[in-house]
Amino acid sequence: MLTVPAVLVTGRRRNDMYPALKLLHVTCVALSACGFAVRGGLAIAGSERLRARWWRIAPHAIDTMLLASALGLAATTGQWPFETPWLTAKLLGLVVYIALGSVALRFARRRGTRIAAWLGALAVLAWIVSVAVTRRPGGFLG
Ligand code: HEM
Repeated sequence: MLTVPAVLVTGRRRNDMYPALKLLHVTCVALSACGFAVRGGLAIAGSERLRARWWRIAPHAIDTMLLASALGLAATTGQWPFETPWLTAKLLGLVVYIALGSVALRFARRRGTRIAAWLGALAVLAWIVSVAVTRRPGGFLG
């Protein structure tokens, strides 16, 4: 007789992944935020250290894991951007963060623009974390 595995009926194995995915997600958020803060500081100081192989590889690896764990969490909890308002807010915040981060690390020609974009990106990142923690689309803006 054909037996259906329990995991297909209850989805239990997917839920068992939640703590590990959450730990990975939050760890990647912390590493990504610290990495961006340091890279921005080096860029503002005009440091040659930014050319190190480490700084060209590690941020991409961490951000890839951050997004992979985000997708895993969305699938595990059944909450998706454009369905769940606070996740939509997070995704939009992420787009703004990436845009400001690109200005701060790559496109800015003037030091003042670089500093403003770096501070703006860090503020947006803090807001995204507040959205995640409160699970409200406004985060610390209410
Ligand atoms: C820079 C971008 C991001 C940051 C800073 C961030 C931050 C966080 C933090 C701090 C938590 C833990 C919240 C808590 O339980 O107290 C979390 C959970 C979560 N994040 Fe992210 N996240 C980011 C991107 C994303 C994206 C793009 C998605 C969309 C797929 C996403 C989906 C989730 C989900 C589904 C949870 C778990 C929610 C729950 O436990 O019910 N995250 N995020």
